[in-house]
Amino acid sequence: MSENTVAAAISAMDASESRRDPDYPLFHVAPPVGRLNDPNGLIHWHGEYHTFYQFSPFHPDRKLVYWGHASSPDLTRWQHHTPALAPDSPYDRDGVYSGTAFMHASVPHFAYTGNVRFPDGGRSSSQCLARSYDLETFTKDDQNPVIPEPPAGYTQHLRDPQVWQDADGSFRMCLGAQRFDETGCALLYRSTDLQCWNLEGELNFPDAEGLFDALGYMWECPALIRVPDESGDLIHDVLLFCPQGAPPRREGFENVFPACYAVGRLEGTSLRGARDFYEIDRGFEFYAPQVFTDPQPGNPTVMQAWAGNAAEDDQPSMRFGWVHLMSLARELRVRDGRLVQRPLVDLSEATDSLTPRVDVSARPGPVLGLSGSRAFALTCEVDTTPGTSWTLRIGSDSCHIQITLAETSLTVDRSQSRYPHGEQRRVTLDPATRRSVEVFHDRSVTEIFLDGGALAFTLRSYVEFPDDGVTLSATGGVVAQDMIVHRFD
Ligand code: FRU
Repeated sequence: MSENTVAAAISAMDASESRRDPDYPLFHVAPPVGRLNDPNGLIHWHGEYHTFYQFSPFHPDRKLVYWGHASSPDLTRWQHHTPALAPDSPYDRDGVYSGTAFMHASVPHFAYTGNVRFPDGGRSSSQCLARSYDLETFTKDDQNPVIPEPPAGYTQHLRDPQVWQDADGSFRMCLGAQRFDETGCALLYRSTDLQCWNLEGELNFPDAEGLFDALGYMWECPALIRVPDESGDLIHDVLLFCPQGAPPRREGFENVFPACYAVGRLEGTSLRGARDFYEIDRGFEFYAPQVFTDPQPGNPTVMQAWAGNAAEDDQPSMRFGWVHLMSLARELRVRDGRLVQRPLVDLSEATDSLTPRVDVSARPGPVLGLSGSRAFALTCEVDTTPGTSWTLRIGSDSCHIQITLAETSLTVDRSQSRYPHGEQRRVTLDPATRRSVEVFHDRSVTEIFLDGGALAFTLRSYVEFPDDGVTLSATGGVVAQDMIVHRFD
């Protein structure tokens, strides 16, 4: 890496004011300075989780994208490191774009897209490799770029490689692509030596009756991952993908770009059995998810995503020179053909935990134990029978978010918050009398999980905190049982 490009990023990190921001999270990965977007090269290695991420240290003055680097023993306490990859080669001079990690000969390897822009507004995308023996020093491959050009029939929107080793020892690569007719898809390549890559074809969906054939104008960050079924030994192949421009459905797909999944069985270039696709998280901010590469067989499948989206760079945190953050890591399983997500937060890192007595009435009353807290986890069981509703309010009377659970709906309202993109969203739920609720609030981000992770909802939540900043209210005699709160501040 060129000393200057890295040194410039380090001095921006050293001069950063971000930690002074009361909105800066305590147990989420946020950029030390500047802008963060997609997670990259996630890897669980020698007992540590390493998250790399799209990192623009000079945002908003100059767009120059590195791979930032943070690590954690427990997915809860994060430590920042020197950026891993810098845009200092001719083939990636305008951005070391997104990619993934894979193991080869017991050495962590990385695949990414080199982005180059031209004065006429055009761009070129090529696919590149890097490796590291210690996750401290990173070396780009001498043969870069290993895929210099898109194949015939596809535009320069070819990016975000995911590489894995197949059972026969060869390597496969899945890439986000745009056809010449401006529809999106994923392309699959194969290589025996990581240098020469042959196009196998488009990922296809023989059982989906054409549903995926003209879905949006570009697929970003496609990844084929293996996810165990909750019920036993079965392992599913799951496609994570972000089809930009996919049309809204009757309910859902309200974000500028969606993050979706489809469950099936990968045979060659076909994802068999995939008949439909779903949003991974129903919240306002969730994009470009990927899972941790884990050389240890049998470890859980752990996903992390960008808790942001492309249209929301104007945020209160820019006063302190940083914007966006990463979602919590979540263990994935499949239940009845759908993903369930279990947040992986080490609650033993909390400074305090208690089981408050909860008297919920129609008037908001404080959740005991959370007085003055701005970073906490709260879990409970809520009875939702017809005609009842339960509301958790985070923030002050005049500046808050509200999470309301009724028999068949979850409504999240942040129109009264400090976020300039305030809005309300309602998610229809299957009726259930008892729901498990988990809420993780970390300074300016909230993640909600219902029914053991069958529904996930992520949002940025800039509020104001009086002493009693977390209140509960309910109508129709709803009970909240078995409440446990953990505070992190
Ligand atoms: C998705 C994305 C990727 C690209 C990266 C650039 O958010 O647009 O497709 O590689 O971000 O930062």
